[in-house]
Amino acid sequence: MQVLSQASAQPHGWHPALAKPVPEKSSQLFQNCTAKLGLPESRTFKPLPLQPTNFPFSSREATKMPGVVRASQGVISSEVDRLQDQVKKQILTATQLAELPAKPTAAVGASELERAFEIHDEQYLKPVEGPSVWYGRDFSDKESEWVHVLTSDEVAEIEAAIAGVRASGKQTKDVTQADFPLPNLGPRLLSIRDELVTGRGFYLLKGLPVKRWSREETILAYFGLGTYWGRAVSQNGKGHLIGHVKDLGTDPTNIVNRVYTHHGPQPWHCDSADLVGLLCLQVAKEGGLSSWASSHTVYNELLRSRPDLVRIFSQPWFIDRKNEVPAGKKPYYVMPVFNYYQGRLTIHYENSFFQAAQRHPGVPPLSAERLEAIAEFDRVAGSSPVRLDYWLEVGDLQLLNNHQTVHMRTGYTDWGPGPDEKRHLLRLWLSPPNDRPIHPLYGERYGSTEVGARGGICVPGAATKISLEAE
Ligand SMILES: [Fe+2]
Repeated sequence: MQVLSQASAQPHGWHPALAKPVPEKSSQLFQNCTAKLGLPESRTFKPLPLQPTNFPFSSREATKMPGVVRASQGVISSEVDRLQDQVKKQILTATQLAELPAKPTAAVGASELERAFEIHDEQYLKPVEGPSVWYGRDFSDKESEWVHVLTSDEVAEIEAAIAGVRASGKQTKDVTQADFPLPNLGPRLLSIRDELVTGRGFYLLKGLPVKRWSREETILAYFGLGTYWGRAVSQNGKGHLIGHVKDLGTDPTNIVNRVYTHHGPQPWHCDSADLVGLLCLQVAKEGGLSSWASSHTVYNELLRSRPDLVRIFSQPWFIDRKNEVPAGKKPYYVMPVFNYYQGRLTIHYENSFFQAAQRHPGVPPLSAERLEAIAEFDRVAGSSPVRLDYWLEVGDLQLLNNHQTVHMRTGYTDWGPGPDEKRHLLRLWLSPPNDRPIHPLYGERYGSTEVGARGGICVPGAATKISLEAE
């Protein structure tokens, strides 16, 4: 398994422009943090000119500065006490919360929701610790820790599994892990799943020969690999188990359109499943840069610099379903962005869905403080030290844990109007068998919160299916 070292020898996806610092954003983040810490500048870090390796809030560097860390924790503790004193309200069940916006004429104000929502969890307003907290800067030059390039033997093993399924006559959507034996690659895939579920929450497989394979073979290979990570769930109102992320000509300026159907930029968000995979079949002519960030890191940074916004994100938010409405549900759902459950924090952040929900009667307008919270979340996630950028190449498979990471994509231009001239990614939404428990409120979006059988979008009359082309 020496292939890890092949990553650096391969043409990789780092864009030279990303080596540039982003001084204005990161400097502001630094100033916010030091101001909240209440420390004289001499006791903290100098506002360093931001180079790729010297951002002051690198998690590793922070641990080397005990005075600063202690001071930070002291501020957080007092802030926790103050905020918890403010949140002395009755508890609403998930059902009651869902019923709150049912009043047809009088909008339910955010303050009313805040008064009605109390959090009882040991993690509330405490920093997250562990591998899910990471900074992109710490991994931008360490691909060997999160990239694996498939060997020719591993590709041959996948192709043998494809041949086996074809010989059986089984439909791709019914393929199980047992139908797709990978005696040597399989253990690696399972360890990748563990890295996604209990580790940093991101990984990249390179070297799937999608140009050599037919579309049918590519999708079968992709689905077969996915059986090692989790159960595939529907991604839209059409029941697609394999999604086609491609410009279908929808209007990027219409916020109600699902962002995967147009060429415009995707704001920071997570998808509505435990894991998401994106397999690149075709790159754009220009643009289409992928970025992701640890939402746990964003949380910690907000807790340190703007704990008031952490409290806001811990209250219920109104989130659009973008016209894909399960039976008996409203066209939007209500749940917090920061969800504390059984001592763990799970984050559900979908910028464009917050905005889109504003169109529905009964949904309160986004308050100025909520708009500020959105802007600050995006700013921290997009800051140079926090985010990780990557130009996906043909045959790359990006994997992300939606509970602890967020992702985005820049807008792009295709090579032409033909179907093979468009940027094209294949998407998988997966529910792993060993994932975390999540708050019952997630049932509003995930249908079920049962580990291994949750997530996705199920609407009446839409049976699950796989299409070889976007539709
Ligand atoms: Fe996404």
